[in-house]
Amino acid sequence: MIRLKDISKSFDGNEVIHDLSLEVPQGKTVVLIGPSGCGKSTLLRLMVGLLWPDRGNISLFRENLTKNNVEILRQQVGFVLQDGGLFPHMTALQNIRLMADFLNHDHDATNNRITELHELTHIPKELLKRYPSELSGGQVQRIALMRALMLDPQILFLDEPLGALDPLNRVSLQDEMKTIFNQLGKTVVLVTHDMGEAASLADLIVIMKDGYLLQYDTLSTLSTDPADPFVTEFINAQRKPWQQLEDQIK
Ligand SMILES: Nc1ncnc2c1ncn2[C@@H]1O[C@H](COP(=O)(O)OP(=O)(O)O)[C@@H](O)[C@H]1O
Ligand SMILES: [Mg+2]
Repeated sequence: MIRLKDISKSFDGNEVIHDLSLEVPQGKTVVLIGPSGCGKSTLLRLMVGLLWPDRGNISLFRENLTKNNVEILRQQVGFVLQDGGLFPHMTALQNIRLMADFLNHDHDATNNRITELHELTHIPKELLKRYPSELSGGQVQRIALMRALMLDPQILFLDEPLGALDPLNRVSLQDEMKTIFNQLGKTVVLVTHDMGEAASLADLIVIMKDGYLLQYDTLSTLSTDPADPFVTEFINAQRKPWQQLEDQIK
């Protein structure tokens, strides 16, 4: 569904993605994880054509991503950026409808779709009149998810969609997303730095460090058969606070 072949990307002569190849199978959720600054967001932006690689190529739906087809291909995917990326001068509803209206979709069909999305994301209808600044972080993220799902895309790209949430909201939206991905059979690429989130949502996990892909595997293989000491270090570092907490409770 998504294929990256030997991708490199530099900013100001400084290479931040090195020769990276990755294939995302249809219907799977792939989580990109790694320390801050390792290149996760850059990789996601390359996949939706918001940035262009210096070398290598990217294909979506078996089609090479180019400047000529990027607009068309991007209309077939949904994405949520790290802060939700809603337009502040538009209400939640205007944000959600934006692309459907731009593409002249049937008004009734669009309204029906919005009702469906309400049921899926558990957002009360009256919130849709509000501007993003009048919504909580969790509500903004749910609206951003509704916007991403509006055109029923086969592929979803999500950059730390739960990043700004408190732990309770985080867990509830995480569970909802899991249901949504499974119910709709979407192909999903999700960025996080949280191993618990990766464990809960991912079919496959990409561990990145300093712009390199260290390992691409299931969680159980990452823990039983790590390709690099950093893989184990990263997984254990995230386990440690929990162990300490459990020890204290005992
Ligand atoms: N627009 C940019 N200009 C210059 N450097 C950038 C830009 N975007 C990202 N970088 C750099 O690229 C590296 C990877 O960043 P990013 O992909 O945002 O990491 P992550 O999402 O994993 O935290 C970092 O060193 C960051 O400073
Ligand atoms: Mg990032």
